[in-house]
Amino acid sequence: MSKTPLHHRFPKDFVWGVATSSFQIEGASTADGKGESIWDRFCRQPGAIADASNGDIACDHYNRLEEDLDLIASLGVNAYRFSVAWPRVQPLGSGAWNAKGLGFYERLVDGLLQRGIRPYLTLNHWDLPQALQDHGGWEARDTVHRFVDYARHVNTALGDRCAAITTHNEPWVVAVLGNEQGVFAPGIKNRAKMLQVSHHLLLSHGLAMQAMRADGARSQIGIVLNLAPQMPATAMPADVAAAQMVDARNRLWYTDPLFKGTYPQAVLDEVGADAPKVEPGDMAAIQTPMDYLGINYYSRGVVSADGSEWKAKERGLPVSEMGWEIYPEGLTDLLCLLHNDYPNLPPMHVTENGGAFPDTAMVDGRVNDADRLDYLQTHIAAVADAMDRGVKMGGYMVWSLMDNFEWSSGYLKRFGIVHIDYETQKRTPKASALWYRDFLRDWKR
Ligand code: FCB
Repeated sequence: MSKTPLHHRFPKDFVWGVATSSFQIEGASTADGKGESIWDRFCRQPGAIADASNGDIACDHYNRLEEDLDLIASLGVNAYRFSVAWPRVQPLGSGAWNAKGLGFYERLVDGLLQRGIRPYLTLNHWDLPQALQDHGGWEARDTVHRFVDYARHVNTALGDRCAAITTHNEPWVVAVLGNEQGVFAPGIKNRAKMLQVSHHLLLSHGLAMQAMRADGARSQIGIVLNLAPQMPATAMPADVAAAQMVDARNRLWYTDPLFKGTYPQAVLDEVGADAPKVEPGDMAAIQTPMDYLGINYYSRGVVSADGSEWKAKERGLPVSEMGWEIYPEGLTDLLCLLHNDYPNLPPMHVTENGGAFPDTAMVDGRVNDADRLDYLQTHIAAVADAMDRGVKMGGYMVWSLMDNFEWSSGYLKRFGIVHIDYETQKRTPKASALWYRDFLRDWKR
């Protein structure tokens, strides 16, 4: 444990932000010519969303942009990570562009810059145009080229004003939860499709990055991965081997192609004929050097050879409302692991970190979310610990600015540092938001 005050452990050029994504906060699901996304469609599937809700209104951010920009500024952050809804900008995912939809993001980016906040734009935070899904979605190679066109269009319009552009948020989630487990949009359950989807996401990342640079991109470009260190439940060799295999499937399947240009052999051996179709030149495109790597971290993984789930809560370990173990050391471990595995790794940013806690109770107009505050503080310290061990870190962003639509959990799980009253759309900064603001004020001094 370092005795230095937390705010003194970060350099003055550190990027501090809060993060959101389009589908989770914007609402206005059909406004100004927006097309249907796979999440609009998925929410209508009975049983798909825990509270049978959808993103039609969400936090109504689309209609409350100015208020939300002031809210972001009030926190004292120097960056804001948001995503562009592809079907707002190009309703069918190919063909006609929708200037009104793009106009929203122009106002957002300009509003951030006016307030001295750096825009961190994500191109794909999962809300693929439904029309593309109807043609095979990410499993279809054509979607790769559609994504490159979309990336070029957004980059041409906004790239000169953004600090960073992220191609994809968490390709593992799109591939595995969306196309293998079917618990997220588009609700497909097929391992071979999952593998092809993951390859096309990675390929489109590389090709979009090349195309945006060829167009003269001025912002940093990277990708965001959800990663966790995978630890064996016991020191038994079978558990150790099982943890290595999960690590290969969940982490190396993404980081090896990006930083080595190859898929991990252990996974290729395991999936056999389900392996994705890879065309000549694909791996070189995927390996195109990027400017930064975004890491979303929430918890560690613990693996047993018998496949049994690690029930952190039943073991008396601290967990968030998602049931995810609260394990800040895992973030330090993960960052050090990546740093050691890949000598050519670009600087990393923690692009998401935070927790859902049952803090809906408002007492005298205040939400005292001590558990979330503690989560953030200990995880920020974990980033500093990694930096002490020589890992190059560029920034840290809290998930999330405000309570929002938490995918298949609907509105039942609250990750915000700002409370949303969904009846009135009133925004109330929680104790964690006020702590973050004070922490950033001290850091700036
Ligand atoms: C991540 C997502 C983000 C949010 C958090 C809790 O996987 O990127 O949208 O839902 O989890």
